[in-house]
Amino acid sequence: MTGHHVLVEGTGVRFSCAEGDTLLRAALRAGVGLSYECNSGSCGSCRYELVDGEVRDRRPGAPGLTARDRRRGRRLACQSEPLSDCVVRAPEPAEVTTYRPVTQTALLSAVRPLTHDMSEFVFTAEERAEFAPGQYAMIHLPDGRVERAYSMSNLGNSSREWKFVVKRVPDGQATSILFDKLEVGSAVVIDGPYGHAYLRPERNRDIVCVAGGSGLGAMISIILGAAALPDAVDRTAHLFIGGRTEADIHIPDAVLVARRRLRALHVRTAVSAADGCDPQPECGIAPFRGFVHEAVVGALGENIRDFTYYAAGPPAMTDALARALVVEGGLAADHLYFDRFC
Ligand SMILES: Cc1cc2nc3c(=O)[nH]c(=O)nc-3n(C[C@H](O)[C@H](O)[C@H](O)COP(=O)(O)OP(=O)(O)OC[C@H]3O[C@@H](n4cnc5c(N)ncnc54)[C@H](O)[C@@H]3O)c2cc1C
Ligand code: FES
Repeated sequence: MTGHHVLVEGTGVRFSCAEGDTLLRAALRAGVGLSYECNSGSCGSCRYELVDGEVRDRRPGAPGLTARDRRRGRRLACQSEPLSDCVVRAPEPAEVTTYRPVTQTALLSAVRPLTHDMSEFVFTAEERAEFAPGQYAMIHLPDGRVERAYSMSNLGNSSREWKFVVKRVPDGQATSILFDKLEVGSAVVIDGPYGHAYLRPERNRDIVCVAGGSGLGAMISIILGAAALPDAVDRTAHLFIGGRTEADIHIPDAVLVARRRLRALHVRTAVSAADGCDPQPECGIAPFRGFVHEAVVGALGENIRDFTYYAAGPPAMTDALARALVVEGGLAADHLYFDRFC
């Protein structure tokens, strides 16, 4: 392998970084748990200082660094490609997840429309589909330039299948390619899995999954994961799905099938711009009118501290949920796992 060596100052931890790989991904591939969230340059949780060596910045001006960070010489590990051997100063190592990320080619095998602007994309990869429920992968699109994070909506499997629920963003670079240019048989590169907002089966608490928009994919995966646990019949899950209008809401069949394996699955929907909504036939409950975090608080009431929560969606949704549950509701922060789609 051509590449460079990276030393984490003060820890004795060393790892190799292949030519063209980022500091963060090389660390995770080597089982070194550098801290991170989005892998896209947006959240800032992978900040580090370069003590020695040279790196190329993949995304100069990424929002994950403030002007103050830049003045202090801070960089983003998820956007830094070493050009030489490097010494870095990074925060305490974070948790290492079970599956180390690998890069592989995958072919688009199906596209299934779910709503007016959301579809499920199914890819078949070369080697393996190993990931924990709720994790995400980076999809490198065939134009060779654009790469974005998408959460898997299925479970790890031996059929090498990776499924993603993607919402079209008007004039979005990646989603324009996914929706308008990819055809069945088109090749992409999938790099994953990544992310810490995955199902923790050891936790003996009922779970609550909260999906905002395309966050639905990650929450499908979590529900399927809970339903596949050996003690699924003893577990109750709650799924909240939020959208702007009723047309944004989709309740996947896979979730309704998973319900049969669980003690109970309560599905509720919330629409923030509701006007004369009908009850969803699949769950028989009229949509809550308001934001999805308000629906969660309203439905679970005084019991909100008794659950473990998983959430995915736009930052406004995940931030409002975290505020409602942790700051206002008194939930211990380590009972809430979420991915912000920033
Ligand atoms: C952890 C995570 C999981 C996600 N899961 C899903 C999902 O399951 N379904 C879904 O529909 N969306 C998901 N997203 C959002 C997705 O990654 C895209 O941001 C979204 O599809 C819009 O992309 P676009 O290129 O079409 O839009 P654009 O408007 O062209 O791109 C905007 C997004 O791309 C990011 N971006 C811009 N430049 C770069 C760059 N050079 N490198 C990396 N990122 C860049 C921006 O931060 C912004 O979020 C997820 C995001 C994250 C962080
Ligand atoms: S993980 Fe690097 S900015 Fe989010």
